[in-house]
Amino acid sequence: MENPFLTNSYKGPDTFCDRKDETKELIQFIENGINVTLFAIRRLGKTGLIHHLFHKIEHEKQLEYIYIDILPTQNLAEFTNQLATAIYNRFPQQRKIGKRISTFIKLFRPTLNFDELTGNPTLSIAVNSTQQQETTIQQLFQFLDSQSCKVVVAIDEFQQILEYPEKNTEALLRTYFQTLQNTSFIFCGSNQQLMHDIFNSSKRPFFASCSHIHLDFIEENEYADFIARKFAEGKQSISAESISFICKWTLRHTFYTQYLCNQLYYQRRKKIELSDVRKMAWQILKQHEGVFFQYRNLLTDGQWKLLKSIGKEEKVFQPNSKEFIQKYQLGSASIVSRSLEALLQKEMIYLDAYSDKPYYQVYDKFLLRWIQSN
Ligand SMILES: Nc1ncnc2c1ncn2[C@@H]1O[C@H](COP(=O)(O)OP(=O)(O)OP(=O)(O)O)[C@@H](O)[C@H]1O
Ligand SMILES: [Mg+2]
Repeated sequence: MENPFLTNSYKGPDTFCDRKDETKELIQFIENGINVTLFAIRRLGKTGLIHHLFHKIEHEKQLEYIYIDILPTQNLAEFTNQLATAIYNRFPQQRKIGKRISTFIKLFRPTLNFDELTGNPTLSIAVNSTQQQETTIQQLFQFLDSQSCKVVVAIDEFQQILEYPEKNTEALLRTYFQTLQNTSFIFCGSNQQLMHDIFNSSKRPFFASCSHIHLDFIEENEYADFIARKFAEGKQSISAESISFICKWTLRHTFYTQYLCNQLYYQRRKKIELSDVRKMAWQILKQHEGVFFQYRNLLTDGQWKLLKSIGKEEKVFQPNSKEFIQKYQLGSASIVSRSLEALLQKEMIYLDAYSDKPYYQVYDKFLLRWIQSN
């Protein structure tokens, strides 16, 4: 049996834990044609949730969906190619819609290439002017919109548009999206600050254009059941205290919880005890130690010291408070403020603003545990 604890892909509901409410909510928004944003910290399961949602609606005849991840794109031209490629690959030629789409896309005289790593076809459309560029995007969306069904377009890492040299991208996309009748959007992004800026600043084009879903940590009961079930299906018994340790040690930050379970499962023990889990946790920290030392080299002394202090504390509510600064001898409040800003920007720490009492925490849970163990 394959390892059911995935760390880098989606392979169907069987290996996907919970997210029932969020999936239901997303489906309701889609059915009502409401655009939605999906915010969460990194590696918590945004992309997984989108794939899970699409898997659910796969067999709905009245719905089509497109997924694009624009993280690799650096300008509107690349956005266009990503979109054209996604549309082209999504609809197989045997289907009526696929034939229509392929005929339509050929009008743009695209060049067909194959991705070196995956072997998947990629399209690139040569356009000369910015004007032409803009028309192409609009035409692609309008074509999708004119099919006789609802279309859901999920754009992952949407904050990437802020990196494009074309300064009017936000306004441009907002204008196009607004004219569509049958298309709804899911905007997903891991840079919470930038996503927040795009959708919640009253002066910007996307303001108040979407409903929001905030993804939180999976509930401990749900995750514990899932872990026990998957080990049992693989004929491995795991003690309740082991599962509890896994959830606490990784703080249920999905990727890290999955990773620890994945490595444990891989050992194929008949019986897993707390001591086995502790040993594996320690091994994982050792595996990653090289990277942690690199972080130290890349940060200034002040930043590294603050990072360690936040790690030791686990949750820091007021990094600028006298007590915290004194306890870890961090110098002046202004130095702390500057380092804090830098660590946030480098995504070494994040601010959980959705908690009752907002707090700062080290992003990488393995780094967090490594700091605490040193
Ligand atoms: N509900 C879930 N059940 C089981 N595994 C999950 C679940 N959600 C996510 N995962 C696993 O955790 C890993 C990280 O999730 P995912 O890539 O979806 O996070 P993300 O929020 O999109 O991260 P990033 O911000 O880096 O894009 C995935 O590879 C997936 O295998
Ligand atoms: Mg993602």
